[in-house]
Amino acid sequence: MLKGRAVEVLSVGAYIPDKRLTNFDLEKMVETSDEWIITRTGIKERRIAEPDMAVSDMGVEASKLAIERAGIDPASIQMVVACTATPDMLFPATACLIQAKLGLPEIPGFDVEAGCSGFLYGLSIASQFIASGTMDTILVVGGDTISRIVNWEDRNTCVLFGDGAGAVILKAGKEGVGILGFNICANGNFADILCMPAGGSKIPVTVEAVQQKLTTIQMEGKEVFKQAVTKMADSAEKLMTELNLKIDDIDVFVPHQANIRIIDSVSKKLGIKPEKTLTNVDYYGNTSCASIPIAWNEAFESGKLKKGDLMLLTAVGAGLTWGSMVLKWNS
Ligand code: ACO
Repeated sequence: MLKGRAVEVLSVGAYIPDKRLTNFDLEKMVETSDEWIITRTGIKERRIAEPDMAVSDMGVEASKLAIERAGIDPASIQMVVACTATPDMLFPATACLIQAKLGLPEIPGFDVEAGCSGFLYGLSIASQFIASGTMDTILVVGGDTISRIVNWEDRNTCVLFGDGAGAVILKAGKEGVGILGFNICANGNFADILCMPAGGSKIPVTVEAVQQKLTTIQMEGKEVFKQAVTKMADSAEKLMTELNLKIDDIDVFVPHQANIRIIDSVSKKLGIKPEKTLTNVDYYGNTSCASIPIAWNEAFESGKLKKGDLMLLTAVGAGLTWGSMVLKWNS
């Protein structure tokens, strides 16, 4: 349960690269087939960021849309939180680059790294600055260019991911709307099942590390799958109980878009009606930190998400990390 002042989500925006990479394109790159990818993941195509677009650039485009839709003066933004596993650089933080590119005043900016759960972590952290009365208006951005860290010769992983960004504006708001509650959690004992081993302080980037593909994603797919279903469903159930809500109270369910089988299993475990579950993994793949805000943005633009709707968000990611959030959309 969120304690303190009410935190509204004023708006959402997203940026999706134009370039499409279809399963048929992938058939020419690795030993795979459209049929295998669709059956195992539900993915038909994914988007790939233009070579001159980094996460901050995509984040800026998503932010501009969110700022415009919120109808706020950008100068009123008091903090930028960027959620990403693929920052422009190890440092400085991508949030600082976004702040500069948007021409915002000198305000705090930092990155949140929680794998694919990053956006939920970022929203949760940012909400606390508003709930406590420290700040009134915060920009939260979720973006990733997983295409830049994928091993394009590894069929186990390269078929799964896509690029994109999303953003929301949080603001101190009316009681009873906005973020009603959240939980976030982690268990580093699962670190090895989904990681990029090199590029940090443990294994710096060397010719050997690159040749051994240690600067790309390593994943134990089956274990990630199993944990993803359990963690997302359990955290969502726990939150619903804490908020004294029934699953039928939820109008729109926004699960992290990792794989259609994961989404279907979580939805089934929760007992949520399929028509309430947002899915776009078929045409964007897993966009990591961007997957929840991109799906949210689509639901807003298509009119599926309506004023007053109760939304349930849930995610899991490298760490392992996971979490859920319930909010009342009021825009
Ligand atoms: N095309 C053809 N065959 C493939 C491909 C491919 N793209 N990828 C793997 N295979 C092969 C494997 O090599 C294996 O062959 P083998 O039996 O000869 O060894 C066979 O297909 C079966 O592989 P499995 O791993 O058993 O396939 P599975 O049904 O588990 O599906 C998948 C694999 C899709 C990766 C699944 O485990 C999965 O979705 N896991 C979750 C991963 C995920 O979502 N990660 C995202 C990051 S984390 C997050 O966002 C939550």
